[in-house]
Amino acid sequence: MSTHNRGRGRIVGVGVGPGDPSLVTLKALDVLRAADRIVAPSVGPDDEGRAESIVASLLPGASIDRAPFEMTPGGGPTEDAIAALAGWLAQGEVIAYVTLGDPNCYSTFWSLLHRLRAGGSDPEVEIVPGIMAFQELAARALRPVVEGSQPLRLVVGLEGAGDLKEALADSKSAVVVYKGGRHLTEIIEALSEAGRDRDAVVGELVGLEGERIAPAAKWSGPNASYLATVVVGSPPQEDVK
Ligand SMILES: C[S@@+](CC[C@H](N)C(=O)[O-])C[C@H]1O[C@@H](n2cnc3c(N)ncnc32)[C@H](O)[C@@H]1O
Repeated sequence: MSTHNRGRGRIVGVGVGPGDPSLVTLKALDVLRAADRIVAPSVGPDDEGRAESIVASLLPGASIDRAPFEMTPGGGPTEDAIAALAGWLAQGEVIAYVTLGDPNCYSTFWSLLHRLRAGGSDPEVEIVPGIMAFQELAARALRPVVEGSQPLRLVVGLEGAGDLKEALADSKSAVVVYKGGRHLTEIIEALSEAGRDRDAVVGELVGLEGERIAPAAKWSGPNASYLATVVVGSPPQEDVK
């Protein structure tokens, strides 16, 4: 893919799904094949991130550059990563920046873009959506997430079950918990107290090596890794269409 905007470049946030390479969309593949450069987030220059490994399995031999991120609370891309990306964009490159799941939901794509802009880059931007972890988990568990007019809440469990408890107060709501793996025992307790553990399924490393998927009531804990998701389906509604 060649650009006609030398000095600006183009960055495409490409969602590659939660793990199973066959969930990468045709559009994502087209963009990856046509890009001047593929860049993947990583925790360090020598570390192959999850998104990178999904792309590598689909496009063997493809060159993938790493954008290291600082692994501190609120840490973003390193100065070196931003400098490298800014340089490639200034040469007018089209960069496909891959993220796990979807680039618009809790991904590194937007923090990277904010940093690039703050540093003076002004790339054209495009986003290719990806299948999210909770969608794949619900599909694998053969469970509906919401039906009819039921609401869906997405909460974060990084600090424990507090936000989940608040969401469960609405018994009509389905709830998805992201980033709660380290507090899974507490999360499952909260589900049990609210009488919702039978509606819930837990998935750790869905589509990746080490995958575990089980109903919350049968989860053989204790906690899980960061890459764990809980889908608390809304209570069954026979009449909804
Ligand atoms: C940084 S967010 C990335 C979310 C991703 N952008 C998405 O759209 O699904 C990380 C959280 O997503 C969820 N997640 C992403 N991939 C997952 C997977 N393969 N298995 C289980 N949970 C996953 C977990 O809750 C994890 O803590």
